[in-house]
Amino acid sequence: MTTREKYVIVTAAGSGTRMGASMPKQFLNLGEKPVLRHTLEAFFAAIPQIHAVVVLSAQMKEYWRNLCYTQKFYKPQTFVEGGLTRFHSIKNALKQIPDDAVVAVHDGVRPLISPKLIQRLFDLAEQYEGVVPCLSSSDTLRCLAKFEEGWLYDSQSESLPAREQIFGMQTPQIFDARLLKAAYSLPYEDSFTDDASVVQTYLSKNPEEKSRVCYVPGEKFNLKLTTPDDMLLAEAILSLISK
Ligand code: C5P
Repeated sequence: MTTREKYVIVTAAGSGTRMGASMPKQFLNLGEKPVLRHTLEAFFAAIPQIHAVVVLSAQMKEYWRNLCYTQKFYKPQTFVEGGLTRFHSIKNALKQIPDDAVVAVHDGVRPLISPKLIQRLFDLAEQYEGVVPCLSSSDTLRCLAKFEEGWLYDSQSESLPAREQIFGMQTPQIFDARLLKAAYSLPYEDSFTDDASVVQTYLSKNPEEKSRVCYVPGEKFNLKLTTPDDMLLAEAILSLISK
């Protein structure tokens, strides 16, 4: 059996407005290194020969290139310009991926992913056309509608499935490149907020495709840094795990 080349597309073209910082969160320092560097280092630690395709906004491309240079972070990276949404950013990046590769897509703002989980997901990708890490909810979930400072009860919550059946999706989501490219040829929908949503929609429209997507446990520490609180939490976790 020939081993397929492994790629990771790291999305880092978002503006990160919810963080309220002057700089998108992927470039903020976590400990002594930028968030995006932590993210990339986890992939190179897991799979040293992996090809990294980093999606950046036109404004931040030079900034990141210079930062890597001044920090002597010389790991090879292919840079791709981002699009209007995450979907469009990934669509651009997929042009760099050969059809016969296996490709992970990871949010640049999830720096605490463990190399162990990355390896496990790539191992599973030998058996399944798609592998997606996720976590079940320990909180009770409810649908609410925005109201002034807070929210109001929305009767739709009665139709929500039990919490044991609801999962939060994480990244990296890993796919057979041919399948992911076919899925990303669909026209954009607002519900396409991760790769599995694109692939599942593609598979439901193409029932002759026999591809299987396997959902497996992710990691609690694999946080998606969104608000300033997340940054504090990530700092605390980082100091714990690097002790
Ligand atoms: O939009 P959201 O906050 O879910 O972003 C998830 C990831 O997608 C982030 O890493 C962000 O930088 C990236 N993104 C992107 N291009 C966009 C919007 C978001 O690469 N146009």
